[in-house]
Amino acid sequence: MFHLSPSILAADTANLAAAVRAVETGGADSLHIDIMDGHYVANYAFSPKTVADLRRVTRLPLHVHLEVSNPDAVLSLFAAADMLIVQEDTAPDLAATIAAIRRLGCAVGVAVNRNRSVAALSPLLPQVDLLLVMAVEPGFGGQPFDARVLDKVRWLQQQRTSLGARFAIGLDGGVTTTTIAPALAAGADFFAVGSAAFAGDIAHAVRQLRMSQPERILNSNSPSP
Ligand code: DX5
Ligand code: ZN
Repeated sequence: MFHLSPSILAADTANLAAAVRAVETGGADSLHIDIMDGHYVANYAFSPKTVADLRRVTRLPLHVHLEVSNPDAVLSLFAAADMLIVQEDTAPDLAATIAAIRRLGCAVGVAVNRNRSVAALSPLLPQVDLLLVMAVEPGFGGQPFDARVLDKVRWLQQQRTSLGARFAIGLDGGVTTTTIAPALAAGADFFAVGSAAFAGDIAHAVRQLRMSQPERILNSNSPSP
């Protein structure tokens, strides 16, 4: 079983409440709300008001993904969220940022970009609820999935086992019914999904994602079927 978090960046924001109802019908576990400041990424998206407004129309947990240059300055604006996800490269003292998120009463997510080391985060892994591996450069939906990040996922899964930790291992960016299968096999159990969720019949698209199975890993030692 895995956690499915549709990213409303890809939704029709003129009809956001209807889009949220559709992902609920399809079996979403939470909503992923990207906050973009036009500085950390060259795009803009959503605000604290989006979180407050969504809180009134859904019981789904609200996950705020801060793609902003100075998250420490704005954490408290998003305290109504259930989880705050910070980009690790934007927090000069990540342990302090994690503690500040906890003090707000929110769950803690840490996101790591493709070109950054996930091993450097090792000491903090027991303190987070979600380690979110970016499979695209943050800023825009609809980009192709970079399968090289599955090495980070496999490493995280080993760490989780050896540390006896409980954090979820997530992927954000380019997740589709095709790319989710090898990601599940690599050990990911949490997915933020934008364009593949808010396409066509949204409830159907989410249901299709929900039904995904891990890709079978072919083992040369096992007998042929
Ligand atoms: C990218 C965002 C993602 C985005 C994913 O900066 O963090 O959450 O919405 O969109 P897709 O699934 O279309 O790549
Ligand atoms: Zn995101």
